[in-house]
Amino acid sequence: MGKIVVVGSINADMVFTSDIRPKAGETVLGNTFSLIPGGKGANQAVAAAKLGAESFMVGCVGNDPNGEFSINNLKSMGVNTDCVEILNDVSTGVANIVVAENDNSIIVIAGANTYLTEDIIDKYKDVIKSADMVLMQLEVPLSTVEYTLSLCSENNVKVLLNPAPAAKLNGNIISKATYITPNEHELKLLFGENSTDEILEQYPNKLIVTMGSKGVKYFDGQEIKLIPSYEVEVVDTTGAGDTFCGSLGSALVRGESLEEAIRFANKAAGLSITKLGAQSGMPTLEQLG
Ligand code: RIB
Ligand code: NA
Repeated sequence: MGKIVVVGSINADMVFTSDIRPKAGETVLGNTFSLIPGGKGANQAVAAAKLGAESFMVGCVGNDPNGEFSINNLKSMGVNTDCVEILNDVSTGVANIVVAENDNSIIVIAGANTYLTEDIIDKYKDVIKSADMVLMQLEVPLSTVEYTLSLCSENNVKVLLNPAPAAKLNGNIISKATYITPNEHELKLLFGENSTDEILEQYPNKLIVTMGSKGVKYFDGQEIKLIPSYEVEVVDTTGAGDTFCGSLGSALVRGESLEEAIRFANKAAGLSITKLGAQSGMPTLEQLG
């Protein structure tokens, strides 16, 4: 067991399934609607908790039904929510997710996530400093990510940064993170047009590139390693990256090598995409066998 603290977003996902994705100006009749707990931060905290880590969430929700729904879900999944602020006069973050034609498209309204500011990080800095690893993503203000990274690096706390949704980041953020897990699209935005292998070689045992069904690549200091993805029947890939990061974190804090941890996280992420919804399908330790 190890302690993971996620500093990140909490959303209520409004998931529509449809055979057809509407084009601009078009209306289509879909199949199902579900309100499902989500947000990249919360998803990663749940993945870590399900896989046996002691998992803490630092984040913000609004004082509204979606906020209550999100906090209750985190608690029921074993995530400590003592550092989740409930803010008046703002809405809990929401995501509109359309699952259609074997893919998803998502619009996120950050709402309360925008109010996860430096003063909230200060309020919970003892919890953050006590972590074996801090997990962050980019659905909260970049200034907060940078501030938390500085706090962590001053206190020798490892940070796994999932640079999603895609954004440009300054060199300071990149150098302070212990691990960075972009997908191929995010990698290009962060490091430009060089080949994946050329970029990887500059960041041994740090940069971990997720490539969906093509697997995961990293450079171990000697050679580029390609760890295959876990083959499954795809239902919904929403949150697969989050399951990967939460699982990777949980495996690393219990002392697995980077390669073992990536294999483990690939399997967890694979299983998660067999069910609709970001957190549905995330396996427990027993299910991973
Ligand atoms: O990574 C998946 C998540 O992205 C969803 O749960 C949604 O809330 C969006 O934030
Ligand atoms: Na899922």
